[in-house]
Amino acid sequence: MKWFLLSLLAAVVHAGLRFGCETLTVQRLDPVVEPGNIPSAHLHQIVGGNAFNATVLPSVDVGERATCTTCLYSEDLSNYWTAVLYFRARNGTYKRVKQYANAPSLHDGQVAGMTIYYTQESFSSNGKQKITAFKPGFRMTVGSPTVDTRAGAESYKALRYTCLQTILTRGSETYELPKEPCPAGIMAIHHFPACWDGKNLDSPDHQSHMYNTVKGAFQPAGPCPASHPVRMPQVAYETMWNTTEFNDRDLWPEDGSQPFVWSTGDSVGYSTHADYLFGWKGDSLQRAMDSDCFFRDCGSPEKPNAVLKIQSAEEKSACKIARTVDEEIDGCKFPIRSAPLIRALT
Ligand SMILES: *[C@@H]1O[C@H](CO)[C@@H](O)[C@H](O)[C@H]1NC(C)=O
Ligand SMILES: *[C@@H]1O[C@H](CO)[C@@H](O)[C@H](O)[C@H]1NC(C)=O
Ligand SMILES: *[C@@H]1O[C@H](CO)[C@@H](O)[C@H](O)[C@H]1NC(C)=O
Repeated sequence: MKWFLLSLLAAVVHAGLRFGCETLTVQRLDPVVEPGNIPSAHLHQIVGGNAFNATVLPSVDVGERATCTTCLYSEDLSNYWTAVLYFRARNGTYKRVKQYANAPSLHDGQVAGMTIYYTQESFSSNGKQKITAFKPGFRMTVGSPTVDTRAGAESYKALRYTCLQTILTRGSETYELPKEPCPAGIMAIHHFPACWDGKNLDSPDHQSHMYNTVKGAFQPAGPCPASHPVRMPQVAYETMWNTTEFNDRDLWPEDGSQPFVWSTGDSVGYSTHADYLFGWKGDSLQRAMDSDCFFRDCGSPEKPNAVLKIQSAEEKSACKIARTVDEEIDGCKFPIRSAPLIRALT
């Protein structure tokens, strides 16, 4: 009887989180791939908790160290980051593309940042298995700043772009940056792998402790292999880049190519990548994954299955960190990755 009840529970529980996180900082820092490097190779846009800095060792429990977060859920002190998109003008100058918040009802006053998902096997099922939350110190990356081929990009399956006709456009995902002007901007999508080796908080390439069964576009994930048997939450990011001020074709390159360039120097789109540094406080993420709360309900006080605490837009935007790397990031005459006049603050 007991096994029956347990499997029944596992079958019906299908929690899913979707929430907005305001920008924490935009800096050349990367505590996962280049710990201690001030500055890191290229610029990142970062959301989440204020424990973020140039060095965050796996021995540090970010959920304990951070004191505030730019994310909707006050117990989520994790950090999430991607590269930054630039517009390259015909005269060779660069301008940083602004971000904007996803569908407003879920982002209460947020102006930039990202949308973060923690789903299970799919939006509607946990695949009848326990979803194990990440441990303190856990980190991973997906994609790579050095990928420059279509095959390389496809090997990650779920790092893509949507040319937004409206804020709500979904589907039509591409591996390349859109080749036409997009009326509502460009959404960059990053789905992380969700099968863990059960042992390592990190690995030398920051990826091999995880295994990808994700197919992209929030399709149900395949089963985890024996080498990576532990099913973790399926983490995904959506970043909305407001490219609309550059949509005039007269601003685009004369050769018909598209004008947007990642801070990695990549103008095709294959180098898109994302970093994750776990930092939920205590057992809060596990609590959410064990519950049956879905999206906004997970933190709505009036809902019986709310398991998390939400904070206001003001509280989110009040969370900031100091600049460690002092450099011009909005515009630049040179490729951003080798920008001159960099001064590390000591
Ligand atoms: C990072 O933060 C920790 C603790 O908050 C601090 O001890 C350390 O000096 C910081 N490192 C850098 C490079 O800012
Ligand atoms: C380069 O072109 C951009 C976009 O047309 C313009 O805003 C900027 O002033 C130009 N800069 C220089 C130095 O010509
Ligand atoms: C996008 O940028 C345009 C031009 O700068 C601005 O008018 C518009 O309000 C922005 N859209 C959003 C959703 O922020």
